[in-house]
Amino acid sequence: MRMFKRTLLKTALGGLAVAATLGATAQAGEVEVLHWWTSGGEARAASVLKQLLEEEGHQWKDFAVAGGGGETAMTVLKSRAMSGNPPSAAQIKGPEIQEWGELGLLGQLDGVAEQGRWGELLPPVIAEVMQYDGHYVAVPVNVHRVNWLWANPEVLEQAGVENVPATLDELFAAGEKIRDAGYIPLAHGGQPWQDATVFETVVLGTGGPEFYRRALVELDPDALGSDTMIQALATFKRTRELMDDGMSGRDWNIATSMVINGKAAMQLMGDWAKGEFTAAGMTPGEDYLCAPAPGTEEAFTFNIDSLAMFRVSDESEREAQQALARLVLEPEFQKTFNLAKGSIPARPDLDMSEFDQCAQQSLEDFQRTAEEGGLVPSMAHGMAVRADVQGAIFDIVTNYFNSADMTAQQAAERLVNAANVAM
Ligand code: GAL
Repeated sequence: MRMFKRTLLKTALGGLAVAATLGATAQAGEVEVLHWWTSGGEARAASVLKQLLEEEGHQWKDFAVAGGGGETAMTVLKSRAMSGNPPSAAQIKGPEIQEWGELGLLGQLDGVAEQGRWGELLPPVIAEVMQYDGHYVAVPVNVHRVNWLWANPEVLEQAGVENVPATLDELFAAGEKIRDAGYIPLAHGGQPWQDATVFETVVLGTGGPEFYRRALVELDPDALGSDTMIQALATFKRTRELMDDGMSGRDWNIATSMVINGKAAMQLMGDWAKGEFTAAGMTPGEDYLCAPAPGTEEAFTFNIDSLAMFRVSDESEREAQQALARLVLEPEFQKTFNLAKGSIPARPDLDMSEFDQCAQQSLEDFQRTAEEGGLVPSMAHGMAVRADVQGAIFDIVTNYFNSADMTAQQAAERLVNAANVAM
């Protein structure tokens, strides 16, 4: 009985708190949020936002579509939109935000943005991506760095590898030792977006950030057909030697777990992988190591997760969307979410003392490369080119990676053709 009373009281107080938070005019509404954050670390991170929204009295309807990199989620989103029933919020990134804006389907967040002073808060490179036609239509959740190498220090030690490879040559040399010691040098999942993640990182490590920009952002045919690109493609293909036979179709977080449990020594992956190490209770610098991907120390491939809002007619739904957008940039969410997700906050003004050394290095490198050059958008993660062009590059990269007889030269020619079609 006492228990029951206490519960009743709690519910009543909860109701009061909700009414107070929503204020006099606001109405409780529901936001259906499409995302692909389904791995252990990602699901933990996403639940933070759900909780904060519900504390404000709104409802979160989860629309999680599994599949790393979000390709499946985007296909599902398109079919929902085509049937005239898009969710109210969706994880849409980079140039794709413009594509949805052009269709006239996105709602505006200018009011929340003005109140929250997003223009002052956000680095220009982020603020720009969130706007369509001069209006805020999306809110940034975080900044992921893609060009990372994750390593298991114990496996490296067992194999007699003293330092985490800093160059591509060192990567292959270490790989040989690791293989000889009986471990898999590089954990990988053979899925197009993961192949593309390794590919772009090798392009960056081979040609540097200016070359990367010309080739994979500006789609300059001269860069795509150059000797540097042919060399990058050949090196990319060589990374297969470091991978295991079971990689086909493997999810990225399964590959990360191979580094966690010491089956594999390293993984080339963005820092959502860190969310898996964190969820496993591991400490960077001790249980696992993070280092810029070989040859890319001076560069930062960015991948900004963001939630775009669809135009809705229901007032309470709109209020819930606005609340969601506001919460996303508040310090509490930025901190808790990003600690779990492995990324850094989208707003650089926050106290980073609770973040680990990988995140602190990421923020430092983000700011340094933004000022000195070297900050480039990730092609593999939808930040650099339109979705159709990205799809064409993925096809070429994956076919080449898995083909026994396509040469690097032929793959480069195909990239040039794809760029010419895209122009
Ligand atoms: C990226 C996304 C990350 C993470 C990763 C793996 O594209 O930005 O948040 O989810 O895919 O699915």
